[in-house]
This record gives sequence, C-alpha cells and structure tokens, in this order.
Amino acid sequence: MQQIQADKQAQLAEIARAIESDGVTPSLKAGATQLVFGVGNPDAELMFVGEAPGKKEDLSGEPFVGAAGKFLNEMLASIGLERPDIYISNIVKYRPKDNRDPTAEEIAEFVPYLNRQIDVIRPKLVVFLGRHALNVYFPDLKISQAHGEPVENNGQMYLPLFHPAAALYNPRLRQTLIEDFSLISAILKTIT
Ligand code: URA
Repeated sequence: MQQIQADKQAQLAEIARAIESDGVTPSLKAGATQLVFGVGNPDAELMFVGEAPGKKEDLSGEPFVGAAGKFLNEMLASIGLERPDIYISNIVKYRPKDNRDPTAEEIAEFVPYLNRQIDVIRPKLVVFLGRHALNVYFPDLKISQAHGEPVENNGQMYLPLFHPAAALYNPRLRQTLIEDFSLISAILKTIT
C-alpha cells in the first residue's frame, strides 16, 4: 500500500514538473506566486476537481484553503472524511489575476495534465466542483441540471456538484450542495 502511494506520488511529481517545463499558460504563470498542483492521498477513492486557485491558494500552494475550502471541509466531515482521505486539485493550476474565470484556452492547455493526474490516482469517483470542471468532460451538461447525478465517461464515474464558493452565500444553492454531497458515500458503494 505504502509502495503504491509512493509510486503514485512520484508520478504526480513528474506531472507537476512537466507543467513547468512544458511552459503551460506562461502569462498565468507570470502573474502567479506558484503552481498549485494538487494535494491529498494519491491513492484516494475520491478526487475533487475545482476551477483554479484563488489568492490564498496561490500563496499557500494548496487548493481550497480559503473560505470555499473551509466549507468543503465541513461537508467532508459530514460524511466522515478529512482532507488527507481525498485528493484535491483544480483544472487550472495557476491563479488567474483578480480571480477572473479561466479562459477556454487556458483550460484546454491544462486538460492533458488533469487527465494524467486522474490516470495516476485512478479514483472511484471524480467530483467536479462547479461548471468549469464539469464542462471539461461533459461540455453539453448544465450544472443546474446535472448536479447530484453521477455520470460515466470511458469507464470513469464523475459527480457534478455546485461550486462551494457559489453556494457559500446563496442559501438555496448551499442547501442543494449539502444534499448532493450527502449522496457521495452511497454513490461510492455502487462503484466496483
Ligand atoms: N476555488 C477553486 O475552484 N479552487 C480553489 O483551489 C479555491 C477556490
């Protein structure tokens, strides 16, 4: 088990190095403090994919350490999980200036590396946090309709959820996100 984790960690480190050496999104890199690659258990059953690092993430080098991350931690605790149990990353791995949405071109540049990350981790379930992550793999789905329903592509199961930052200050979205989140344990049990 420990050997598998160490092997996966080494493969993930190689992907992080490739992002730097391939010169992905040079203008985002120039405005960012550092690469925010992803953290957590490389052998996790559950992998979360957000949009892009914000200010706190850019400074700390870890995804979801700000207000949205705190809310995510509360939801994880509600299903008996802690951050070290899961793996968490973003599509875009440098902070876009002023927290603007990443462009379609920036997302496209990062997708091959996200694919490689998922291939190494091989989670049972990839949870999309927000519409950007959903639309990377399912461009025709709308988060307002697809949230809370597991979807499959090429043998990989995905669960679209509203983004915790969008739900933070919107009581209706917040309630929906909490309800969708509570389905995760049951969904995991159905995946062999
Ligand atoms: N929002 C995201 O999508 N990712 C982060 O890491 C933080 C906030």
